[in-house]
Amino acid sequence: MSDFIAWMQACQSRMESVLADTLPPVHIAPQRLHEAMRYAVLDGGKRVRPLLAFAAGEVTGGTPDRVQFAAAAVELIHAYSLVHDDMPAMDDDALRRGKPTVHVEFDEATALLVGDALQSLAFDVLAAQPLADDPAMQLTMLHLLAQAAGSRGMAGGQAIDLASVGKALDLAELEFMHIHKTGALIRASVLLGAHCGTPDAATLAALDHYAKCIGLAFQVVDDVLDAEAPTATLGKTAGKDASHNKPTYVSLLGAARAREFAQELRSDAHAALAGLAAPAPHLRALADFVVERAF
Ligand code: IPE
Ligand code: IPE
Ligand code: MG
Ligand code: MG
Ligand code: MG
Repeated sequence: MSDFIAWMQACQSRMESVLADTLPPVHIAPQRLHEAMRYAVLDGGKRVRPLLAFAAGEVTGGTPDRVQFAAAAVELIHAYSLVHDDMPAMDDDALRRGKPTVHVEFDEATALLVGDALQSLAFDVLAAQPLADDPAMQLTMLHLLAQAAGSRGMAGGQAIDLASVGKALDLAELEFMHIHKTGALIRASVLLGAHCGTPDAATLAALDHYAKCIGLAFQVVDDVLDAEAPTATLGKTAGKDASHNKPTYVSLLGAARAREFAQELRSDAHAALAGLAAPAPHLRALADFVVERAF
């Protein structure tokens, strides 16, 4: 476990410097937009998606000097999704990663543009950095991230989330929403990391199954933490799903059963890793982290 924590911290600090170097500096115009972009991305967050990309790269021979850019691309999309998720037209949140949200610290128009610009930057990084020997593979990676971020991925999941306020979704509908709004980007993290190396079809299939399990588990646990953890631990406002009348795994199943479901998904994720040619200890530990995390 201590090996895992050391590995995690090394990946996180590597990501911090890659993201800091990738984001436009504040002294370049438009300065306020660049300042807000850096505010949204740097110095906060667990960096779970980058961690998954690095761990998947370990399985396929994707070296960290390549994976770090694929990881940065997903994290930039994720950060943009949080900025927009917090805006008054969506979840109307004032606190994110222990700081005022972007539209509170800056203003709403800036928050919109931060999201727009982070999304473009993500695809810029993924296109401009040499991530694969075969250019066709890099096009596949661009396609993967575009699908995961768009209307049939994260943005689509967010649309379903907003359309579901005040509704009692059934289990299948709730799962559909969660695998889109959160699962899609988690899956892209694993697959992009894997594509930085040379995955065979069986490895990709096992990693894909793993990613789908922990992608859903991640949002199930997010729902549980929203209901049970304090704001100070979360770094975002606790209890907002109930106060905003959102259907969640907690509202449908209760917190205890939702936690059990997350444990079942963790077991499925571990079982998927058994299909790999070699053990993947960091992916295994990340499945534990996703389910056991306190924030
Ligand atoms: C929060 O994601 C939003 C969801 C998709 C559930 P994270 O819990 O990964 O947020 P950070 O990046 O650590 O702040
Ligand atoms: C967010 O889900 C999913 C995104 C695509 C950002 P939530 O709305 O539950 O995320 P938090 O709880 O605000 O981080
Ligand atoms: Mg939301
Ligand atoms: Mg939210
Ligand atoms: Mg939430």
